[in-house]
Amino acid sequence: MPLAVAPGVTHWPGYFDAGEQAALVAELREVARQAPFFTPRMPKTGKPFSVRMTNCGVLGWVSDEGGYRYQPNHPETGEPWPAMPSRLLQAWEELAGYPLPPQACLINFYEPTAKMGLHQDRDEEDFAAPVLSLSLGDTALFRIGGTVRGGKTVSLKLASGDALAFGGAARLAYHGIDRILAGSSSLLPQAGRINLTLRRVTKPRV
Ligand code: SIN
Ligand code: FE2
Repeated sequence: MPLAVAPGVTHWPGYFDAGEQAALVAELREVARQAPFFTPRMPKTGKPFSVRMTNCGVLGWVSDEGGYRYQPNHPETGEPWPAMPSRLLQAWEELAGYPLPPQACLINFYEPTAKMGLHQDRDEEDFAAPVLSLSLGDTALFRIGGTVRGGKTVSLKLASGDALAFGGAARLAYHGIDRILAGSSSLLPQAGRINLTLRRVTKPRV
């Protein structure tokens, strides 16, 4: 049953059952074999992020001294990103309410000490489609607010198998991860959390 968190923000607790979560982890392991996790760096300063990332899909999100951007190739190997597993495309079809398939799936790995500061997802050309977030492994304390920095926020826990979409009025909402609850899931062989964010990037051609 979907929960309405705020206008434009919907949470589906336990969207993937245990078997689907395990199958997805196996598929992501294969993605990571082809496109190894890398440590993104902040634009300008080059300071490393606390999360590690990789991508699948036609485009992938990367960040380094040159800025935040989407590109069709892995920043270290130069190879194209692996295809998006079909169960991710299916989740998008079921939950996104958008007629075109996702172009990018960013895969973030959070060690138990990793966090993500409040930010907007605004590197896309087009904000018509929602961002669809899928969580695997340890539960995270997620925070989402309005479209202006410093406004009121709500916190919710994202557990393994949960889906969350933010779109419409919330497409540019500030959001972040305050904390990972280490040991809350036994899905992954190690403590930590995987988050997938599926997005449209370019404006549809007419
Ligand atoms: C993100 O905003 O890129 C990730 C959100 C999450 O980890 O749930
Ligand atoms: Fe984000």
